[in-house]
Amino acid sequence: MSLRTTGLVPQLSACRSLGVTGVLAFSVMFGAGAAAAESDWPLRSMQPDLHDEASLQRGVKYYVNYCLGCHSLKFQRYERTAVDLGVPEDLFLENLVFTGQKFGELMATSMPTEESKAWFGAPPPDLTMVARVRGVDWLYNYLMTFYIDEDRPFGVNNKVFPNVGMPNVLMELQGEQREAGCGPEPVDLLAGEEAVLGGFLALTSEDRQKREEEIGRRNRCDSLAVEAGTGILSEEDFDQAVYDIVNFLYYVGEPTRLERERLGVYVLLFLGLLFVFAYLLNREYWKDIH
Ligand code: HEC
Repeated sequence: MSLRTTGLVPQLSACRSLGVTGVLAFSVMFGAGAAAAESDWPLRSMQPDLHDEASLQRGVKYYVNYCLGCHSLKFQRYERTAVDLGVPEDLFLENLVFTGQKFGELMATSMPTEESKAWFGAPPPDLTMVARVRGVDWLYNYLMTFYIDEDRPFGVNNKVFPNVGMPNVLMELQGEQREAGCGPEPVDLLAGEEAVLGGFLALTSEDRQKREEEIGRRNRCDSLAVEAGTGILSEEDFDQAVYDIVNFLYYVGEPTRLERERLGVYVLLFLGLLFVFAYLLNREYWKDIH
């Protein structure tokens, strides 16, 4: 059963304030348990760019539409965000504040913490610092690698955060992504028991299969593929959307970074000027001694 056929995804995208009820009921029924495990999924790198204002503006738009229903940004004010990202107050209030909050308030969520723990297995954490804690590469790959897994309570799993308790909220944009390139896990012939046994290569194919079953070779899928035509965005545009969200979260992690860079230039100019005067003064002092 995929999320799409249950009609869960449209509800999720509409979860601006409390529209997540359907999902919650669903998760209570199935008792979503979240056990985070380590992943060895190779991370694609992403370079945030705080000077790309258009990207940051799209990022905040996606964030309030798809994430803020569950994840607060409790150290970030709407007003500060609007000023930093160059969005006029009226436009911002009209299009990006759905919680009935005031412009000067912190970007809170209406998701109740206690209940959400029962609903999702883990409460959706505040994401103000997530880009600093997890890193932008991790975040980018996390949002890119949700895939359909019927065995999970929400019908989805994640390559970077296996068995995550979060539903795939971006599925309507990305489309249905599934595992691909599956096959038995490679066996290291030079390591452990296999080396002692003289390796697989010496075995007949039948014995080999038996042996493989004995040591329990898992099926392993090392890539993901999106089913064409199932998402609103093309692969390229979805990539850009995820980039924008992560870029925005990078900005939120340290909103003063832009200001600091600008100030830094002034400080250097000031020091340069000071040097010139100090040098002239120095020459003046020593002029008569030589
Ligand atoms: C329906 C509620 C819901 C929505 C909407 C949602 N999330 Fe989540 N998210 C969760 C839950 C629950 C967890 C905790 C999962 C766990 O620990 O297993 C989580 C975890 C995360 C984490 C991992 C945090 C960490 O460091 O462990 C990140 C990052 C994240 N979400 C980002 C997002 C982004 C970005 C969006 C918007 C595109 C979003 N989420 C939308 C429920 C949601």
